[in-house]
Amino acid sequence: MPKLRFAERDLEIAGGATVLETLEAAGIDVPNSCRAGACQSCLMQAVAGEVPEEARRGVSPAKRELGHFLACVCRPTADLEVARVGGSEAIAATIAAIRRCPGDVLEVRLRGAERLDYRGGQFITLLRDDGLARPYSLASVGGAAELELHVRHFADGAMSGWLARAAPGVEVAIRGPYGECFYVADDLERPLLLVGTGTGLAPLYGIVREALAAGHRGPITLLHGARRAADLYHRDELAALAAAHDNLEVVASALDATGDDDMTATPIDALALERAAAADRGALRVYLCGAPALVNGLRRRLFIAGVPLRSILADAFLPAATGGA
Ligand code: FES
Repeated sequence: MPKLRFAERDLEIAGGATVLETLEAAGIDVPNSCRAGACQSCLMQAVAGEVPEEARRGVSPAKRELGHFLACVCRPTADLEVARVGGSEAIAATIAAIRRCPGDVLEVRLRGAERLDYRGGQFITLLRDDGLARPYSLASVGGAAELELHVRHFADGAMSGWLARAAPGVEVAIRGPYGECFYVADDLERPLLLVGTGTGLAPLYGIVREALAAGHRGPITLLHGARRAADLYHRDELAALAAAHDNLEVVASALDATGDDDMTATPIDALALERAAAADRGALRVYLCGAPALVNGLRRRLFIAGVPLRSILADAFLPAATGGA
């Protein structure tokens, strides 16, 4: 049976288990979300040994060079030594405020004991003192002292149910930041298309505000979708942002939209393809955040429509896949 070595511990890899499963079984938390090789939340680094090619699929050439791989789909067939990729030290933090929003979304504000160097759109792992860990995207703007998370509240969710009952002042810990889905000010004129469903708005809310703060001048379109109109949240905040910036358009999409509620019933993927077709696809940068099925499907269709893959940044997550969010 192959062994997995991590932080000077040798772990048995049970038949066919992934690196992620093996570490979790040993009580070691690893950021993860989709558990299906789509979101790259679980990126780790191989220190010694062979990583199966399947675990490197979709990993950029630069990261492959560094030995990075996806722990959730890595089933080692020989001994392997692994390490975390950056941001490994947990930082103490306090819950500063929790606000209930439409769509069973909790806006959670955290204050770190030390300042976190992050960018809006990246994600952190939130740790409870009993070790329970969940990944959440950062909706706040990089440099802001308070971290803003949008957490979908599941009545039986281990972390979200606990957060719904938590009071300001409760102590937690955070680890990270992780991810490359953030605004890059390399061309202030390029069109930006941001597409998210549900709490996929969280990273986009951080990204769009960073772009505007950086003085982005190109057209920015933010599409936020949900099945039910009642589940769309932060509508006032987004409307205020659009009112203050001529180059920002915000479109809300819900399948039950009636047309007189300032939103459209056109599905969000159709809207995204429509907007991409009307844009300069060579210059366009797209951010996709939400369920893996939407993110992966739309990434493929946008690529077929002429948007270069390197211009499509994605953050796929599936809260239910984290084992009781
Ligand atoms: S790619 Fe591993 S958790 Fe998403």
